[in-house]
Amino acid sequence: MRRISWKTCVIAAILAGPLMYCADQPATAPAPASSRHSPVPPAPGTVTPALVRQLAAARGVVPLPPAPYVRPALARLGRALAFDKILSGNRDISCTTCHLPEFATGDGRSLSIGAGGVGIGPARRTPSGIFIPRNAPALFNVAAMRHLFWDGRVEIDHHGHLSTPAGSQLSPEMRRVLEFGPASALAMFPVGSRDEMRGYSGNELAAIPDDDNPAIWAGIMRRIGKIPEYRRMFEEAYPGQRFDRMTFAHASNAIGAFMVDKLTFANTPWDRFLAGRDNALTPNQLVGAQTFLTLKCAICHNGATLSDDEFHDVAMVQFGPGKGNGSSLRDDYGRMNVTGLESDKYLFRTTPLRNVELTGPYGHDGAISSLQGFIEHYSDSDQKLLSFDPMQLDAAVRSTLLPNAADILAQRDTLLKGVVLTPALVGQLMDYMSALTDDRARDLTHLTPRHVPSGLPVDH
Ligand code: HEC
Ligand code: HEC
Repeated sequence: MRRISWKTCVIAAILAGPLMYCADQPATAPAPASSRHSPVPPAPGTVTPALVRQLAAARGVVPLPPAPYVRPALARLGRALAFDKILSGNRDISCTTCHLPEFATGDGRSLSIGAGGVGIGPARRTPSGIFIPRNAPALFNVAAMRHLFWDGRVEIDHHGHLSTPAGSQLSPEMRRVLEFGPASALAMFPVGSRDEMRGYSGNELAAIPDDDNPAIWAGIMRRIGKIPEYRRMFEEAYPGQRFDRMTFAHASNAIGAFMVDKLTFANTPWDRFLAGRDNALTPNQLVGAQTFLTLKCAICHNGATLSDDEFHDVAMVQFGPGKGNGSSLRDDYGRMNVTGLESDKYLFRTTPLRNVELTGPYGHDGAISSLQGFIEHYSDSDQKLLSFDPMQLDAAVRSTLLPNAADILAQRDTLLKGVVLTPALVGQLMDYMSALTDDRARDLTHLTPRHVPSGLPVDH
C-alpha cells in the first residue's frame, strides 16, 4: 500500500509541475499532523535507477557538457597569471590566494581577506581589519554557468550578449578576445578592487581613480610586458599577435581558459549514473538522489551544474562589511545591486553543487560552516535565520551580524515555506551530495606552479 502511494505521489509531482509538494497531498500521503510538511522518505526497496533517471529528466537535471577545447599554450599562460602576485597593486596577492588548490579553489574562510592580508586559508589575518563582503566560491565548471559572482553581475544572456560592471569600458575589441564567455571576463574585476587586489596606496595601480578600469588594465599590462617570459607566453597563446597590441582582456581570457581547462569536473558517481551505469551510485546515494529530486531542492538546483542559474532568497544571515546597502551601509542586497529591482532584494545565485562536499564554508557570506548545517538550515529556515549562532563565524566578524532578519524573511522564496526536514531526510540528502564529488577534485595541489614568470613567491 505504502509502495503504491509513494509512486503515485512521485508521478503526481512530476505531472503537476514545480509547485507540487508531495506531502501536501492528503490522498497519497496521509502523514500524522506533526510531520505534515515532511515528505514521506522513500522506502529503500521502492527506489529504482529508472525512476531516478526519470525524475532527473523531469527536473531538467542533465549531464555536464564537456569543456570547450582550450589551446594548451593559452591554459599555460592563464595558470601562470592566476598564481602570480604581479596582478596585484602591492604584489602581495594572487587570484589563487583566495582560490587555493588546497581548499578546493576557495579559501576555507567565510569571508575572504584581500590585499594586505597575512597568511593563507583559514589562518589568514587582516592587519587593516578589511574583509571582503562575500565568500570566495569554488572555480569549478565555470564554462557551464551563465551568471558569475553571487549576484550574477558578470553574465551572458541567451543571445550571447555579455554584461559586466565595466559597461562600455570593456570595449568591443576586448570583448572579441573573450573566448569562454563570463569565465573569460571575470578576471577583469578582482584586479580593480582595492580590497581584493589593488590596494589603497604604495603602488602605481592604487593611484588610478576607481572608475578608470582601462587605466588599471593598461597598468597591469605594462608591468607584465617588462617580463620577457610573459611576452613570449602571450605570443604563444595568441599565435600571430604581438604582445604590444594585446590588452588585459588577453590575460583575463587566458585565466578563464585555465579555469575551464583544469577545473571542469564531470566524472562524479552521479555523472556515471546519468550516463547509464546503474551501480555507479551506492544504494544510499540512489535513495538520496530520489529525495533530492522529489523534495523542492531540484526546483532550484537543476541543470548541468545543479543550479538553475537564477536568484533566490533562502534566508541567509547578513554579517561582515556588506555591499554598502541599507542605512548601516553594511547590508548586501544581492541581485538587486545588479538589476535595481526591489523584487531582487536579498536574492543570490543558486549555488552549483558539484564537489560541494569540498567547498565549505557555505552560502554567499559563508555563514554556515558545515554542509550538513546548510542542509539542516532548509528545515524551518525562518527559525534558523532568527536563531543563527554567530559563534561559528571568525571571531573578528561575530559582532557584525546585522539585525535585518525580518527584511530577509520578507523576501524568502515561498518554496521554503513550511519545509521541515527530518534527520532521515537530511542524511539522505547528505548521501546524495557525496555522489557529486569528482575524485580528481579532491587533491588539486598539482595545479600550483613552483615558479611564476615574475619570480614572486607563490602561495600554497
Ligand atoms: C581577496 C580574495 C579574492 C581574490 C584575490 C580573487 N577572488 Fe575571485 N572571488 C572572491 C570572492 C569573495 C568572490 C565572490 C564575490 C561576489 O560574488 O561578489 C569571488 C568570485 C570569483 C569567481 C566567480 C565564481 C562563481 O561561481 O560565480 C571567479 C571565477 C573568480 N572569483 C576568479 C578570480 C580570479 C580569476 C581572480 C584573479 C584575477 C580572483 N578571483 C581573485 C575572492 C577573491
Ligand atoms: C528556492 C530555491 C532553492 C531551493 C528550493 C533549495 N536551494 Fe539550495 N540554494 C539556493 C540558493 C539561492 C543558494 C545560495 C544562497 C545564499 O548563499 O544566499 C543555495 C545554496 C545551497 C547550498 C550551499 C552551497 C554552497 O557551496 O554554498 C547547498 C548545499 C544547497 N543549497 C542544497 C540544497 C538542498 C539539499 C535543498 C533541498 C532541501 C535546496 N538546496 C533547496 C536555492 C535553493
